[in-house]
Amino acid sequence: MLVTILLPLCVFFIFFNFMCRRPKNFPPGPTIVPVLGNILSLSLENPLQDFERLRKAYGNVYSLYLGPRPAVIVNGLQAMKEALVTKASDFAGRPQDLYVNDTTDRKGVILADYGPSWKEHRRFALMTLRNFGLGKQSMEERILGETEFIMNTLEKYIGSTLSPQLMFHNASSNIICQVLFGKRYDYNDEFIKVIVQCFTENAKLANGPWAMLYDSLPMIRCLPLPFMKSFENVKVCFMSVLAEHKRTRVPGEPRDFLDCYLDEMDKRSGDDGCLFSEQQLSMYALDLHFAGTDTTSNTLLTAFLYLMTHPDIQEHCQQEIDEVLKGKDKACFDDRNNMPYVQAVIHEVQRIANTVPLSVFHCTTKNTELMGYSIPKGTMIIPNLTSVLHEEGQWKSPHKFNPENFLNDQGDFVKPEAFMPFSAGPRMCLGEGLARMELFLITVTLLRKFKFIWPEDAGEPDFTPVYGVTLTPKPYRMKIQLRAMH
Ligand code: HEM
Repeated sequence: MLVTILLPLCVFFIFFNFMCRRPKNFPPGPTIVPVLGNILSLSLENPLQDFERLRKAYGNVYSLYLGPRPAVIVNGLQAMKEALVTKASDFAGRPQDLYVNDTTDRKGVILADYGPSWKEHRRFALMTLRNFGLGKQSMEERILGETEFIMNTLEKYIGSTLSPQLMFHNASSNIICQVLFGKRYDYNDEFIKVIVQCFTENAKLANGPWAMLYDSLPMIRCLPLPFMKSFENVKVCFMSVLAEHKRTRVPGEPRDFLDCYLDEMDKRSGDDGCLFSEQQLSMYALDLHFAGTDTTSNTLLTAFLYLMTHPDIQEHCQQEIDEVLKGKDKACFDDRNNMPYVQAVIHEVQRIANTVPLSVFHCTTKNTELMGYSIPKGTMIIPNLTSVLHEEGQWKSPHKFNPENFLNDQGDFVKPEAFMPFSAGPRMCLGEGLARMELFLITVTLLRKFKFIWPEDAGEPDFTPVYGVTLTPKPYRMKIQLRAMH
């Protein structure tokens, strides 16, 4: 009797002990618990502080088991560069069996694995976004046009206060919509409302504990839990825009991204195994909208939170803007070269905003090494960008908002190597150019016209962001005054 009970228990124990050991020369980490791995070492709501605690305990490259799945967390500039730049192709994959893959049909570019489809789609977007091919209007005109709508909104609140969350969200969404679909949407438009609502819902799910449990514990995937929502209604919306484009387009005269893609499909139609398709396009457009909306709007929200609560820095920017734009009716992106202080402030905002704190997860494409550790093919890699943007030794003030981080002794703008809010290497953000143009033109145009004040009755500002795939400042209000034009 004792033997029949003890023997299976012993076998079970030995089996789990074996399963719960890290492979030879794998990065170290906390003890692995059977089935759960290390998920008990992480706060499912906000793991950033846990990641920092574990970095202090195990070094810049350590591992965690999310259920049965090993993940390597990469911290600090040196390790990050080795992984994402020096050994770029070894680390350029994306994990393929996560909650987010299942909700996006494995199409699009953000989550596509390292391979021909990702490469061709990435190259296509970079070329198309580079101001060619998107019709007659330049990217600057699109951004400045949308900024007019922001200014119209702000003008209605002169002398009173406004909550800017929705305004910046809608503006960022509209800029991408103009690039993708050639038109902006009224803030109450049904199409945009459905997209925004669906993304908010899906982002909440992807950020939340259910997605982490789904990824960590494969056995619960078939249960009717809250993660089974998909992009169905967004796809329906998108198909109507695509149908309208197909009806009204003139081949060879693209008005926007969709037309460019349809032209490219025509060009490739004779190719064997053509990688471009309407299904790809629909997920691709949603990818770009998703990647370009929350990121930009959360960075703008952080910018105005810090500008309001640091009035000396806001005034310094305004002086520089007034001088450089004297006699001009609007700013252009090239003006940044004459505005070192504004440039420093915007970069410092991006550093502090830490908008995509854990980047997008990567995956190794072959057996490789990092900082002397062996990492097998297919291992999930979490690039902890937070650890680089706040790394001691890389910044004059790593933990404090201070534009001096980007200025040398002569007051010139300098960009330290550790500035990587867009990540680095071949998977680096492909919207960087567009995002930087948006941040510069919107911030400069608004600061030129308005003064932003922290309302007297708003209490002490709370700078702690809300955790998610993107970090978001806590909701706040701003008081608006008109400036005298200089
Ligand atoms: C302040 C704004 C933005 C920030 C901080 C940001 C940051 C990032 C980061 C950290 C990644 C992950 C890179 C990696 O995996 O190593 C990424 C990827 C990406 N971003 Fe952005 N992004 C911003 C704006 C945009 C915009 C406006 C677009 C749209 C045009 C965009 C499109 C993308 C795409 C498509 C990817 C996936 C690239 C790939 O997998 O090859 N992003 N972004």
